Amino acid sequence: MNIAIDGPAGAGKSTVAQKVAGQLEYVYIDTGAMYRALAWAAHHHQLSISDESSVSELLQKSKIQLVRENGQQHVYWNEIDVTSWIRSTEVSQYASIVASYGSVREQMLVLQRRLATQGNVVMDGRDIGTHVLPDADVKIFLTASIQERAERRWKELLAKGTQADLADLEKEIEERDRRDMQREVAPLRQAEDAVLVDTTGMTIDQVVDRILQICERTG
Ligand code: C5P
Repeated sequence: MNIAIDGPAGAGKSTVAQKVAGQLEYVYIDTGAMYRALAWAAHHHQLSISDESSVSELLQKSKIQLVRENGQQHVYWNEIDVTSWIRSTEVSQYASIVASYGSVREQMLVLQRRLATQGNVVMDGRDIGTHVLPDADVKIFLTASIQERAERRWKELLAKGTQADLADLEKEIEERDRRDMQREVAPLRQAEDAVLVDTTGMTIDQVVDRILQICERTG
C-alpha cells in the first residue's frame, strides 16, 4: 500500500507522515527535503536561483539521498549531510522557486517514483496524490488555518532557541503557498480522491490516529 500526504506549508505533514510510517513500518519519503537539498546546493554553488537551466543542470549532476540514521531522517546532497541547513527560511523560499521549474519537476518525478517502487511508502509533498503517485491507495490532504501553521512554526523555532516574528512567519508561509498553488507545473491542490484532514486544534497524535483510521478503512 502507498500513502500520499499533500498539503500547504507548515501543516505538519512531515511530523505526521513520519509517525504514520513508523506505526505501519513503512518507508517515509520526504519529497520537500529533495527540493530543499537542490535549493541549498544551488545557493551553495552561487547559482542564480532564477536561472532554470543552471538549476536543472545542477540536479542532473546531483545525487540526493534520504537516509534513516538512529531514528532520524538525514538528507544527503552528493554525500554531504545537508539536514541541518535545509530548514532555514531562506532555503524554504528558494526551494519553492526551484520547485516551480518544469525541468526540475520532471527529474524529481522520476527520482520520486523510483523511490516508491519498493511499495509500502508514506510520501509527503505537494503533488504526490495528483502527479507522483496518482494511484496511491490512500490520499490525504492535510491542512490547518494559516494562524495555527505560523504559530506551530513559531513554537518550533522558539524550542530551538530562535526568536521569530509571528506576522513575518505568516507572510513567509503565505508567500510559499501562493507560489506552490500558482505554478504552472503540478501546482499544490487537493486530489479529487483525497481525504481532507483539517488539523486546526488537533494534536499530532490525534492527526496520526485519524490517518491510521483512514488507512484501515482502505486496507
Ligand atoms: O514540504 P516542504 O515545506 O519541505 O517543501 C519545500 C518546498 O518544496 C515547498 O514549498 C514546495 O515548493 C516544494 N515541494 C514541491 N513538491 C513537493 C514537495 C515540495 O513543490 N512534492
